[in-house]
Amino acid sequence: MFFSTKELLNDALQGNYAIGAFNIYNLEGVKAVISAAEKLKSPVILQIHPAALTYGKEALVAMCLSAAEASCVPTGVHLDHSSKPEEIDLALSSGLHSIMVDGSHLDYQRNIEFTQKLTQRIHSLDGVVEAELGRISGSEDGLTVPEIEAKMTDPQRALEFVALTQVDMLAVCIGNVHGRYSKPVNLDWQRLTNIRQIINIPLVLHGTSGVPDEMVIKCIELGISKFNINTELRQAYMKTIAQSQEDDLLGLMNNVVNAMQTVVEAKLRLFGSQGKA
Ligand code: 13P
Repeated sequence: MFFSTKELLNDALQGNYAIGAFNIYNLEGVKAVISAAEKLKSPVILQIHPAALTYGKEALVAMCLSAAEASCVPTGVHLDHSSKPEEIDLALSSGLHSIMVDGSHLDYQRNIEFTQKLTQRIHSLDGVVEAELGRISGSEDGLTVPEIEAKMTDPQRALEFVALTQVDMLAVCIGNVHGRYSKPVNLDWQRLTNIRQIINIPLVLHGTSGVPDEMVIKCIELGISKFNINTELRQAYMKTIAQSQEDDLLGLMNNVVNAMQTVVEAKLRLFGSQGKA
């Protein structure tokens, strides 16, 4: 069942659980995520990064949309981190209407203008927008504490940003980073609490791979409604291929799907979305 990501996240926010958004590159990724969600009767989001969109173009979007429609669980399809209007145009013309408009590389004022303009366009097509305030790094290596804090989401600015841009969900920066964490994960709980208290739209955490389970649970308690997962799925995929003795291609593809499905199932249980379909 194809569902709007806005509806999935609003239900999660009301129900005190979260939705897993898993980055998809190919059919194996789609099979792993949908099979896990159907097995656990969980809503889920298939998420496409612009790099994957550039590679797979309309065919990748069409595969994700038709898999969402054919699935027996509520399934959304979402475009991740889009900072180029042409990527957004390709997504929209391919039928993908849930989009992360990422102006986080811009200064605050320009991020507002960029996000406002694209949000108006996407909303005029009945689409849904996620935006980011602060800057989620690839890593925090070499940064001082004040530099790290400057990249985090400021609660008052977040309030103003959401009011001015009218986005539907907000990605927060509270110490989370994409990819591998080179140091123990350190999330700013007070910051998340302060943001949640004054923002009434669903909040998103990027960089979930490597965040310890107990921290994920605390994030949900404090109001995160969507977790993005990419690295852990890619690692399961690559490790399976690297260690495989399989000489049959379909056998190898099935092994890859099973390895990724195991990761997805564990995350869906952790997010509390099992049985919420
Ligand atoms: P990870 O690769 O750290 O799981 O982050 C994924 C992500 O946030 C995609 O937007």
